[in-house]
Amino acid sequence: MGATLNGLLFYVCAAFSIIHLAHSQNQQGFISLDCGLPSNESPYNEPFTNLTYISDASFLHSGKTGTIHKDLKTHFMKPYTGLRYFPDGIRNCYNLSVMQDTKYLIRTVFVYGNYDGLNASPRFDLYLGPNIWTTIDAKLSGPGMAQEIIHITRSNILEICLVKTGTSTPLISALELRPLPYDTYITRTGSLKYVDRIYFSNSDQGVRYPEDVYDRAWSPFLPVEWTQINTTLNVVDPHKDYNPPQDVIKTAATPAIASEPMTFSWTLDTSDDETYAYLYMADIQKVRNNDTREFDIIANGKVEFDPYSPMKFEVEVLFNRVPLKCEGGLCRVQLSRTRKSTLPPLMNALEIFQVIEFPQSETNQDDVIAMKNIRDTYGLNKISWQGDPCVPKQFLWSGLRCNVIDVSTPPRIIALDLSRNNLTGEVPEFLAKMKSLMLINLSGNKLRGRIPQALLDREKEGLKLTLDGYLRTCKSCKKKFPVVAVVGASLSSVAIIITVVVLIFIFKRKKPSISKVKRSSLELKNRRFTYSEVKDMTNNFQVVLGKGGFGVVCHGFLNNQQVAVKVLSQSSTQGYKEFKTEVELLLRVHHINLVNLIGYCDEGNDLALIYEFMENGNLKEYLSGERDGSVLNWPSRLKIAIESALGIEYLHIGCKPPMVHRDVKSTNILLGQHFEAKLADFGLSRSFLVGSKTHVSTTNVAGTIGYLDPEYYQKHWLTEKSDVYSFGIVLLEIITGQPVIDQSRENSYIVEWAKSMLANGDIESIMDPKLQREYDTGSSWKALELAMACINPSSAERPNMTRVAHELNECLEVYENLTKRRSQDANSSKSTGHSISFVSDTPSAR
Ligand SMILES: *[C@@H]1O[C@H](CO)[C@@H](O)[C@H](O)[C@H]1NC(C)=O
Ligand SMILES: *[C@@H]1O[C@H](CO)[C@@H](O)[C@H](O)[C@H]1NC(C)=O
Ligand SMILES: *[C@@H]1O[C@H](CO)[C@@H](O)[C@H](O)[C@H]1NC(C)=O
Ligand SMILES: *[C@@H]1O[C@H](CO)[C@@H](O)[C@H](O)[C@H]1NC(C)=O
Ligand SMILES: *[C@@H]1O[C@H](CO)[C@@H](O)[C@H](O)[C@H]1NC(C)=O
Ligand SMILES: *[C@@H]1O[C@H](CO)[C@@H](O)[C@H](O)[C@H]1NC(C)=O
Repeated sequence: MGATLNGLLFYVCAAFSIIHLAHSQNQQGFISLDCGLPSNESPYNEPFTNLTYISDASFLHSGKTGTIHKDLKTHFMKPYTGLRYFPDGIRNCYNLSVMQDTKYLIRTVFVYGNYDGLNASPRFDLYLGPNIWTTIDAKLSGPGMAQEIIHITRSNILEICLVKTGTSTPLISALELRPLPYDTYITRTGSLKYVDRIYFSNSDQGVRYPEDVYDRAWSPFLPVEWTQINTTLNVVDPHKDYNPPQDVIKTAATPAIASEPMTFSWTLDTSDDETYAYLYMADIQKVRNNDTREFDIIANGKVEFDPYSPMKFEVEVLFNRVPLKCEGGLCRVQLSRTRKSTLPPLMNALEIFQVIEFPQSETNQDDVIAMKNIRDTYGLNKISWQGDPCVPKQFLWSGLRCNVIDVSTPPRIIALDLSRNNLTGEVPEFLAKMKSLMLINLSGNKLRGRIPQALLDREKEGLKLTLDGYLRTCKSCKKKFPVVAVVGASLSSVAIIITVVVLIFIFKRKKPSISKVKRSSLELKNRRFTYSEVKDMTNNFQVVLGKGGFGVVCHGFLNNQQVAVKVLSQSSTQGYKEFKTEVELLLRVHHINLVNLIGYCDEGNDLALIYEFMENGNLKEYLSGERDGSVLNWPSRLKIAIESALGIEYLHIGCKPPMVHRDVKSTNILLGQHFEAKLADFGLSRSFLVGSKTHVSTTNVAGTIGYLDPEYYQKHWLTEKSDVYSFGIVLLEIITGQPVIDQSRENSYIVEWAKSMLANGDIESIMDPKLQREYDTGSSWKALELAMACINPSSAERPNMTRVAHELNECLEVYENLTKRRSQDANSSKSTGHSISFVSDTPSAR
């Protein structure tokens, strides 16, 4: 229905000429790029809107500039008369610096205007980062084309890419970003793609900035069967969030035949698409006291919002909180007067959106930063090196190989071929920071100097590093190099030089005798303690922190540092194997979210493990209130969940070979002084093979009842997804505060209990009452859905730990953004609660 965005934006002479510029507004956070504008003409104020446009030149490195045919220029606002086109490369990207986690209206404008005199009709794709946004078909004679979405930025960089799909050359005229309040235009998933934005009037004037403070573009529209009413009086907007312009709400439509309903419809691409509608309502007729205006709102034949009466001279926005789907993609909404109503229905303005998903995760940010570093350090101006390095696959940067698991997992770069690139200078050390790299080819370049130690260390861990031979033989210069440097740098200090020389001498002499094996046994030795040392440490096992099947955990001191000493009871035969597993594993792996092993004692029958001391005990104690009744608040719980997830993720993908913990549970998550979470107890951990085998079969099922993956239990297949299941149970404990097994509950197992509560769809009954409702629905639902996904009976359906950690991070972000906004709102004493949902708001249980 209605005019399109395209029609509106372009015929400016008619549409915008009488807009008054009287009220000056601020354009804070607006990004207005006039693509193709020469830098020396930038910036300028566009005369109709008074918006300040700047040149796009500093936001990308490619493309050529042009202007539309001179005869067409008068039809368009100045920013849309120039353009940038991209004859080279497949994908060309703008890199915009934006505010992170901010809701933006993003508008792209394309006017071909026969700039090249070819009378062509270019067709190409538009991408938002690694995700396709839409296909652009910029006709020669048409008014051009605009695309608009409302989207929340995930980082402080937004990439908008134009992708050549056939023979035609992509082009762009303008790029406009407008920040919106975070709590407007809420969608349950994805982003919102513009379908329509109209106000009901027989005027021929579009409305934009500055009338619309967010620079939404409103088209006037009035179907023949409706009639316009208007007012000169002010229409109050007490809410100040959707901020419709006065020009838009001072007119309204009612049916021309007063007894008829008002019906409007729109189409979506498919039956599966979801849509949101925003209805702007204000009664702007002076009505007699004995008159009523009341109507039902019926969406797709179903009454969604029963009797509604618009406020008198006060605007309200009605929208559906739950996305609507429409049979065959055809959506129909009807405003139908009730029996009691003496006046026909009325509506002032309408916005319609379709949900658009951008599912593909961007490549791991550390990898991206490293790649940009390489590009900038070596001035590699490769045309394909734009946009996301790994995805979509067809635009993979040349010389890279990536590991792309699924859309929800950020891809990692695993191989980098920079051979024959005329690279000069030192061998880049920062490559060592790309932890997922397995292969680097730097041969055929003119690099010099020594190979950085960090890279050599990575090589020992299995990185395949291909370099020109002379760099390797250059090893001898490695020893000379520091001497020269020191002599040069410290002529004033003879002592330092002597020390260095002595150290080098010792180093030279000792080096051949230190083989890899010996060094690790040396390390082991340093961490080995005698039984009498352990006795001293714990003051003869005086303070017992806890007990378990294995023995006891005692408090102790080692060089004034607090430690926890796990003493294994001599009776347990299984104990020794687990003890060995744990020592071997913890000496090998190190991660901030795994408990740190300081040492061990292995003296005949006396076995002990010495760990760093974790002041706040284990997570279970906190959740069950055993710990002096103090309660972990919601953000702390999310933080603990994130950190534990990262610890497990490290075992799964950071270790070589990968490990499965096999006993993830809330008592094995320890909390430090500042509630930092660390995973403990690796006695049952197993490595599993990588390669074609995706699981290991085990004869003994080990683990803890309640946390045990049913698939592992039944099939004896062990995969890292068993830990994901156990973690899902921990997450449920974190969210609900419920014991895992509680015979006094109707559903004694927490999983069954959660499912039954979910069926009621009531979040408050699931959440831990100790939280006293100090949480938001967004992040709590998301966490709950994640927990349910982790405990999916089929391991293949469960997310991996990378995904889990990522989603938990998003939960925390959702929560933090909300609290941030709440405090801002509190400052501006803003009223809320007027936005009425016309579809009931019950989240679905999964
Ligand atoms: C136009 O915008 C500028 C700032 O960009 C402002 O200083 C000026 O007052 C505005 N003019 C009008 C007529 O609003
Ligand atoms: C994108 O812009 C940001 C901020 O201006 C900058 O830090 C970053 O290096 C740019 N990235 C690319 C790929 O040009
Ligand atoms: C109200 O509508 C009438 C009839 O269309 C029109 O003549 C009049 O100019 C309008 N007034 C305003 C304030 O728009
Ligand atoms: C409302 O009141 C007016 C007079 O004030 C009267 O003419 C009219 O019939 C009344 N309408 C109804 C529906 O009662
Ligand atoms: C490294 O690059 C060179 C030159 O392109 C090539 O000959 C060699 O096979 C590459 N080595 C590996 C391990 O990919
Ligand atoms: C490297 O330099 C040579 C000679 O200057 C040049 O022909 C070649 O194209 C360059 N290669 C690359 C990848 O830049």
